[in-house]
Amino acid sequence: SNKYLFKFKGFNFQKKLVTPDYLETMEDFETRDGDVFIITYPKSGTLWTQHILALIHYEGHRNGTENTETRQQIPFFDYNTCNLDFTQWPSPRMFCAHLPYYLVPKTLRNQKGKIIYVYRNPKDVLVSFFHFSKVLVGLGESPDLEHFLERFLSGNVTASSWFDHVRGWYMHKDEFNILFLSYEEMIKDLRTAVLKICNLVGKQLSDQEVDIVVDWATFKNMKADLRANYESLPEVFLKKGQGHFLRKGTTGDWKNIMTVAQSERFDKIFQEKMKDLPYKFIWD
Ligand code: PPS
Repeated sequence: SNKYLFKFKGFNFQKKLVTPDYLETMEDFETRDGDVFIITYPKSGTLWTQHILALIHYEGHRNGTENTETRQQIPFFDYNTCNLDFTQWPSPRMFCAHLPYYLVPKTLRNQKGKIIYVYRNPKDVLVSFFHFSKVLVGLGESPDLEHFLERFLSGNVTASSWFDHVRGWYMHKDEFNILFLSYEEMIKDLRTAVLKICNLVGKQLSDQEVDIVVDWATFKNMKADLRANYESLPEVFLKKGQGHFLRKGTTGDWKNIMTVAQSERFDKIFQEKMKDLPYKFIWD
């Protein structure tokens, strides 16, 4: 265990950012038709999808919300650090969360509301998470990748085990109205990913509006966009000068940092934990 984590119903939350009282309310939160939840394991493309969804909602032009940050339009549901009363929000509401399938609002299981589940090559998740643990306060720093690798493989990190998260959501996907999207397919063909999200949320954009959404959602443009890059997070959350939410935005960065031995160890555990999953992951 780790002093930064708070375990609630078997799942690790970041201790400083949640209260047991709030977590207790999540499962009974009444979702509505039209609500959209972006759900991810950390470092899998949350902010990217959040920005895309906000852009789609405002048809590229953002409709007078030019100075509003994406994180205000689509707040974290599990890390409700501003204590917002979402029950009072007008429809359609949009949220992000890192929750496992069994902790989301129960009404989502009756298809009241939609889910976009984004997943990513876990080796890239590991590497992104390792770098990020130096940036975000309260993740618990690891001295080196080897140390973080052990934490990651044993689920001793915020959001617990990547394997359990992805497996849980995949095995229970039929209970929800859910779109599965990989970070890698978004990298390969962002326009198609945008159209899939439009289709899920029932938004019909013109070709030109789709072009605008895709352009705003590129790594380069998002990194420079103060509404999207999270650089304005207060210093209680961010260790300034240690790195960024938008770090590299590529696939395969793990090859630059993991040793052959680490990669093989990872592969072995991946095989063990995921071999019976009726799904073939394609990362390259
Ligand atoms: S968090 O903290 O859990 O919400 O992080 P999350 O947003 O899920 O993941 C962060 C990684 O997503 C990358 N990212 C992008 N990649 C490509 N294009 C765009 N537009 C984009 N926006 C964010 C971000 O750079 C992090 O990955 P790494 O590998 O660390 O660069």
